[in-house]
This record gives sequence, C-alpha cells and structure tokens, in this order.
Amino acid sequence: MGNESASGRLVTVAAEAALRAGAIQKERYGQEVRIDYKGEIDLVTEVDRACEAAILEILRSRVPDHDVVTEESLPARRGSPFVWYVDPLDGTTNFAHGYPCFCASVGVARDGVVLAGAIYDPIKAELFTAERGSGAHLNGRRLRVSRAGELLKSLLMTGFPYDVRDDVPGKLRPFTRLMGEARAIRRDGSAALDLCYVAAGRIDGFWEEKLHSWDMAAGTLMVEEAGGRVTRFDGSALPLVEDEIVATNGHIHEAMLDLLRGESRPRRP
Ligand code: IPD
Ligand code: CA
Ligand code: CA
Repeated sequence: MGNESASGRLVTVAAEAALRAGAIQKERYGQEVRIDYKGEIDLVTEVDRACEAAILEILRSRVPDHDVVTEESLPARRGSPFVWYVDPLDGTTNFAHGYPCFCASVGVARDGVVLAGAIYDPIKAELFTAERGSGAHLNGRRLRVSRAGELLKSLLMTGFPYDVRDDVPGKLRPFTRLMGEARAIRRDGSAALDLCYVAAGRIDGFWEEKLHSWDMAAGTLMVEEAGGRVTRFDGSALPLVEDEIVATNGHIHEAMLDLLRGESRPRRP
C-alpha cells in the first residue's frame, strides 16, 4: 500500500472498526456485564473483549498483512511497517458504572508515524476521524483547536493511571500546580475522548502520566490535525509507547510544560 493513497482507505477501515465496537457498547450499555480484574481498580468487562474481537475481525479481513497492538490481547507483531493500535473500549470504568463517557479508539501507524485514526462515542453518536495531512473531523465537520492563549482562560482535562494509589501525593502534584493557574480542570475517564475534545476545542489542554499506545495513537493525530500540539512533559516528541503526554491547542503548551515540570513561578504574588 503506497503511503498517500493508503491513508484514505486506512481511515475508512479505522472508522468501520470504531463504529462496529461502538454499536456493541451502545447495545450492552446499562445491562449487567461480567467484570474481571486486571488489577485492584483496573477492570475489563466482557464488552471490552467483544469489542476487541469485532475490531480484530474487521482488521483481519481488510488489512490482513498489518500488525495489531490491542489492549486485551498479547501483541502478535510480524514485522509489518503498518501497526494498528486498538483500544476496544476506552473508559471501561465509566462503562461498568453506567457513566456515559467511553468510546472505541482505532489508529494506524506506518514506521511509527500515525497516519489515520477513528474514535467513536456511541452515546453521543460522535465519530472523530483524522487522516495525516487531511485534517481532523467530527461527523464530517472539520475540527480546529481552541484559541485560548492563557491558562487562566483555559479548561483543562487530565486522567490518572491505575497505579495512582501507589503515590497519590506525587500524582496530585502536577494537578495542584495546574489547578492554581487554570480556569478549571476535569477528569472524565476516557483519554481517547479527552484528546478528541482538545481537537474539537471543547477543552484547551490535556495531560496524563502513563498512557499506552492504544489510548493515544488515534487521539494524538486528531489533536495535531486540528492544529494542536502533542509532546511529552519535557517538550520532546511522543513515542508510541507507554508514556506521559501533554496535548494542547498549542497556545498554552509552554505554560503547561513549565507547570508540569514544576518550573514556573506563581502567577500571583
Ligand atoms: C483508561 C482511560 C482513563 C485513563 C487511564 C486509561 P481504559 O483507559 O483512558 O481515562 O485515565 O489511564 O487507562 O482502561 O478505560 O481503556
Ligand atoms: Ca484506554
Ligand atoms: Ca480499554
């Protein structure tokens, strides 16, 4: 598959997969579902697994020679330059509690560069898509990040990893610093949707410490294609492995980096 002609087809496949998983989520939402525990507070439901199976079936039929990294299965890498990053249900805790904020996220990279992605929120019927070089869209409408230029006028979002209880004060340090500077901070429980919301200008910045490739592959492209910026806390480029992430409208990026590094001076005396 050549790079340029490929990305249009890739986003179609990503959207098909995300929509299929979202349909399963919507159908099962509010019903009793079997829950297993990956850790004390890290859940996986039968719906996560059903969504993953549905997405894998689509990828196997549409792009059989591509590799896939997906949250609930061991990676089966065969050395393809194309790798799909799949979070079959992002926001599992929300889903299990009946809190209507979750999605399916499907992104594909070639040689480590994300080319296309789709994220579907079945509750709001919002399909976010992005194609490298062709922009980010919500249900077909072009997305742009917000124009907020200072933290005091910014709505921020964050999330916490499942090992948060090992070091609660440490995990709250960046939160405390940013809370003292921003207009408000939210924690909604779906990193992929958090990134879409940066792309859509609904929030101005997002940070989290330990995201996985499947949480962020599609979402980071969404932000970049909507004109935003995505880096690690030190401002360096984000690799597609478990890592910290800052995603913003670009204008408040440096101010957020300063506070995340603990370098900024208090804004008020
Ligand atoms: C989680 C969500 C949450 C984030 C966690 C993720 P999951 O993904 O995106 O918002 O804070 O770090 O692991 O487990 O619901 O797919
Ligand atoms: Ca996730
Ligand atoms: Ca998940």
